[in-house]
Amino acid sequence: MAPRISMDGWSFARDGYGAGIPVGQWYPRPFFTRFRQATRHQRHFRSIMETPQHGHEPVLLRQVLQLTDPQPGDIVLDCTVGRGGHAAAIAQRIKPHGLLLCVDVDPTNLEYAKARLAGLEVRCRFFQANFAELDEILSAAAIKSVDVILADLGVSTNQLFSEKYGLSFSIDGPLDMRLDPRISQNAADLLGSLPEKELADLIYALSEERYSRRIARAVVEARRQEPITRTKQLADIVHSVTGPVRHGRIDAATRTFQALRIAVNGELDHLKTLLQTLPKVISRGGRAALISFHSGEDRLVKQAMREWRYDGKCEILTGKPVTADEPELMNNPRSRSAKLRVARFGRTDT
Ligand SMILES: C[S@@+](CC[C@H](N)C(=O)[O-])C[C@H]1O[C@@H](n2cnc3c(N)ncnc32)[C@H](O)[C@@H]1O
Repeated sequence: MAPRISMDGWSFARDGYGAGIPVGQWYPRPFFTRFRQATRHQRHFRSIMETPQHGHEPVLLRQVLQLTDPQPGDIVLDCTVGRGGHAAAIAQRIKPHGLLLCVDVDPTNLEYAKARLAGLEVRCRFFQANFAELDEILSAAAIKSVDVILADLGVSTNQLFSEKYGLSFSIDGPLDMRLDPRISQNAADLLGSLPEKELADLIYALSEERYSRRIARAVVEARRQEPITRTKQLADIVHSVTGPVRHGRIDAATRTFQALRIAVNGELDHLKTLLQTLPKVISRGGRAALISFHSGEDRLVKQAMREWRYDGKCEILTGKPVTADEPELMNNPRSRSAKLRVARFGRTDT
């Protein structure tokens, strides 16, 4: 490859590199070249340091709109409204007579979405609730069926990097992890009370962490000295087993934190309940879009969609899950693990 001297986004043409660019001149590198040339470290660093506008960048937005195709007047249920990114774009499609039902377990995010959507010319209703409580939400809204259901699972960027939630080891904070303040047991309680074997099984089942047994043993030894109550404390315990870094940019503590978050918030159980209720509340011709961020979630969504199809309830619009393209990965590195699956209900031949 021709030699290059590079600055951020710029290259210096040398020895004939760069067709048509005079040797010895600075020129902007094309977008994709810059993306490929950014090191993983740079991309990861950027993902942490840049707080997106509204605290969260909606993932796979274009694809969600394309595949769910919200129409003017539709009733749309956003099960995880978060910072309102997907909801704001959907509102533009369904206005002025459409209805947006916005659900989130986190009152802080729900309030933010409420303020963000307030200026849009569409009717909105807000529910601080778990999407597992779909029946109750719809009966409170006096709605029997909805045209589009979206569930963008997991956590938003502002939640991930706020010390209040204790979800990330990159910021020291209380080891809480509850998104829903109604939950009584936080991550510190769980770590303090689970027997070693149960803890190891939990970490393995929810994150496929291969050092789960050794991490559980280290946690049990550490908690004999003092309670584990801070994110940094837990990260240090995990690192004492695994070393500080593994698999390039992925920190060794990532999986353990993920497993605890899923357990504290009962994420897989709530998703199962949503997937059971969903076909009963979606209209004929309705579209359901689910975005998952780890294999446990995606497996449940894939299985549910296959069952719905087997029962003749829907067709699956995404043979393979839709993932982020290069420009989105460049702009929002957290989209790298997002997988979108969409089903359309009430096939005409059923
Ligand atoms: C990835 S964010 C959604 C971001 C949103 N689509 C946007 O564009 O701003 C996930 C949101 O779902 C919420 N959440 C997670 N589990 C939930 C559940 N079981 N029921 C309702 N909300 C949930 C979180 O509090 C968070 O605000």
